[in-house]
Amino acid sequence: DTVDWDPEETGKSGYDHFMLKEIHEQPRALRQCFRGRVDELSGTVDLADLGDLSPRGVQLVACGTSYHAAVYAAQLFQQAGIPAQAFLASEYATSPPPIGDALVIGVTQSGETADTLSALREARKRGARTLAVTNTVGSTVARECDHAMYIRAGPEIGVAATKTFSSQIAALNLLALAITSVGDAREVISGLRDLPGAVQEILDTSTAQEIAETYRDAESYFFIGRGLHYPVALEGALKMKEITYKHAEGFAAGELKHGPLALVTSDTPVFAVVTGDDEMATKTVGNVKEVEARDAPVVAVTDGASDVERYADHVLEVPDTHRRVAAVVANVQLQLVAYHTADMLGRSIDKPRNLAKSVTVE
Ligand code: G6P
Repeated sequence: DTVDWDPEETGKSGYDHFMLKEIHEQPRALRQCFRGRVDELSGTVDLADLGDLSPRGVQLVACGTSYHAAVYAAQLFQQAGIPAQAFLASEYATSPPPIGDALVIGVTQSGETADTLSALREARKRGARTLAVTNTVGSTVARECDHAMYIRAGPEIGVAATKTFSSQIAALNLLALAITSVGDAREVISGLRDLPGAVQEILDTSTAQEIAETYRDAESYFFIGRGLHYPVALEGALKMKEITYKHAEGFAAGELKHGPLALVTSDTPVFAVVTGDDEMATKTVGNVKEVEARDAPVVAVTDGASDVERYADHVLEVPDTHRRVAAVVANVQLQLVAYHTADMLGRSIDKPRNLAKSVTVE
């Protein structure tokens, strides 16, 4: 289950940085992830090589960006009625929860992260079945787990993960569809079909560079989101801190008022991810009003369905798509904001200080 990538692709192909190249590879990477796995006519997903998993519960273990994909995925399983929880791998290994009948899923781009391997070994020792969701064929995680699913994103050279996050989310959507019987499978599948095109639209039209220019001197950035947009807020902040070396934090929108709001001033840009106009969006708009009332500059990442724009200083548009897809597309806008901010600050984008692509110590 491998994908051929041109040797040329190991270079930067005209992009200033691998990170930017990899951001632009996302539509193609996503198509590769879906290829041969989705039957749109019947509304089914075929991951036959995984066999019959039918888990009664799911525990996801991961680190860094992969942990954010795990937080997103836990919600998919929960929505399908399967108890699911995402754990930071290092904490899981330190203090493992009862496993019961759960399938333990390790989400790891490299397949070599020591914390994640250690959590999975702990789970196996306790009798759990394990599944690796990884980008790397032949990796330690793929060899050690009972099953492996490949995200097929192609090589990622930039230390800050970009395309592999989107591809992890795509793969985890397929997995959730394959092992749960949700009523709206056809709708989700058609939403996923729109994903590569929606990402391409962002790449072609994003105004992230202007936002980066406006706020490049800020010392601190906040990101908020609710539900599936919560891991996007976490990931938006992680990208920002990794490559700009600025303070950035992501919060669940509803949690802002329980402490972090004390930090919000006219000097702290707040990126708010809000799509749709359901109750969840309305609540997040309420949280946006709270920060706007403290004079914080607000950048709304939105499809324009709610009235969040009324309280925002800037808008980063995302197309009107299925909510699962909107989260990925919104995240691409935030990848671009982080990239352009770091670029203007002259940072070492592909190799940020103190960080490694794959961390093989606990
Ligand atoms: C390192 C990288 C992060 C990455 C994390 C998990 O810390 O710098 O970008 O998200 O490891 O990596 P994995 O290969 O397990 O997804």
